[in-house]
Formats: sequence, structure tokens, C-alpha cells
Amino acid sequence: MDELSQQINQCKKPSGEQGKLLADRMNESHYAVTSWGMEQFSIAPDSIILDVGCGGGRTIHRIAAMASKGKVFGIDYSPDCVAWSSAYNAEWIREGRVEILQSAVNELPFEDNYFDIVTAVETVYFWPDLAECFKEIKRALKPAGKFVIINEVYKSELFRERNEAYTAAGDMQIFTPEELKKYLEEAQFKNVTTAVVEAKNWLCCIGEK
Ligand SMILES: C[S@@+](CC[C@H](N)C(=O)[O-])C[C@H]1O[C@@H](n2cnc3c(N)ncnc32)[C@H](O)[C@@H]1O
Repeated sequence: MDELSQQINQCKKPSGEQGKLLADRMNESHYAVTSWGMEQFSIAPDSIILDVGCGGGRTIHRIAAMASKGKVFGIDYSPDCVAWSSAYNAEWIREGRVEILQSAVNELPFEDNYFDIVTAVETVYFWPDLAECFKEIKRALKPAGKFVIINEVYKSELFRERNEAYTAAGDMQIFTPEELKKYLEEAQFKNVTTAVVEAKNWLCCIGEK
């Protein structure tokens, strides 16, 4: 397997030593796109939030700093990611402000109507069945709750060569903003908005329950 394929496979489900290096690197390299994405919505201090596909755990930490009187949950189907993001957020886990669980996105271990916001940073490319996963996220959101997708890569002419190399190398899907909007609307999300930074290939897509 070539280096790019290995990297995409690790992005899909980080594990072991290589996965740990990648999770640490993603904590750094996803910081800027996550900052921009977080400017597209607001977080009230008492919010209950879920970060899906939490990887190395930095986004959970940033969100929990803002939801200072609420609670932030993280899930990831990689047991190693659960361990690493738990270590990253250890202090706030002890204080009860953060909880991280091993779970796949299509079977969330939460009751209906529980979250004010669900975030998904750099992860929807790898989800098995978007329609099913979006439906499951909608179930767990409160009425008018927000589902926020933040991606560093979307299908565009400007980045076509690079992005086609990614999809050829590994099991990932890259979407246009219009495609993600359509899938959210098909899952009955309302007021769906998309924002992009064309020059960086960044995309933030938000839908409301
Ligand atoms: C590229 S990493 C991004 C990690 C983190 N969100 C970040 O921005 O650094 C994708 C993450 O999504 C997780 N993931 C992928 N598919 C998943 C699924 N079906 N259910 C839960 N987690 C998933 C992976 O294990 C991995 O931690």
C-alpha cells in the first residue's frame, strides 16, 4: 500500500502508533479550518454538544471551553481515538464537563432530542451511509438544534487533481457543497446553509432540526 493510501486509511480510523502521530498532527492541522467553521455558528454557555468522529480530541476541548456551563460529548468508533481524546480532555472529564464514548455515528448511544449542537469535523467523507447517519444525528438533536459539518476538502475544479488523488487512494467520498446540502435536506434538515473558502477548499454546512 502506498503512503497516501495508508494515510487515508488512518484518517478513516486512526489506530496504533501511526494513528497516534496522525491524531496529534490533526489536532494541529485542523485547528484553522475548525476556527473558521466555529465562526459560522454560536455556542451558548449552557449548550449540550456532541462532536462526532472526535479523533485526537482538540475540538471537544475548544467547544467545552465555550460551553462552560453545559456539557460536551465526543464519540469515535476507533477505540484508540477514544483513549487519546480522553487523555487530551482528562481534566474536564474528571470535572464532568466532557464525556467521550466509543460508538459509530449510525448508532448513537444517546436519547432522542438531547443535543443543542452536533459537530462533525473532517469526518463525513468516511461515513458508511450518509442518509442513515444524518437521520441518526437528527434523532439525537433537540428541535431547532444544529448539525454543523466542517470540511477541509470539497469537490471543486480548483483542487480537482489533489482531491481525485485522495479518492483514488482510499475509501473516502468528497462532496460538493450542493451535494451535502441536498443530503441534509433529504434527511429533513431545515434552513441548510453552506459557506466556503474557495482558495483553501474549506466548507462549512449547517442544517437545523
Ligand atoms: C480525519 S479524522 C478527524 C478527527 C477530528 N474530528 C479532527 O478534526 O481532527 C476522522 C475521524 O472520524 C472518525 N470516524 C470515521 N468514521 C466514523 C464513524 N462511522 N463513526 C464514528 N467515527 C468515525 C475516525 O475514527 C477519525 O477519528
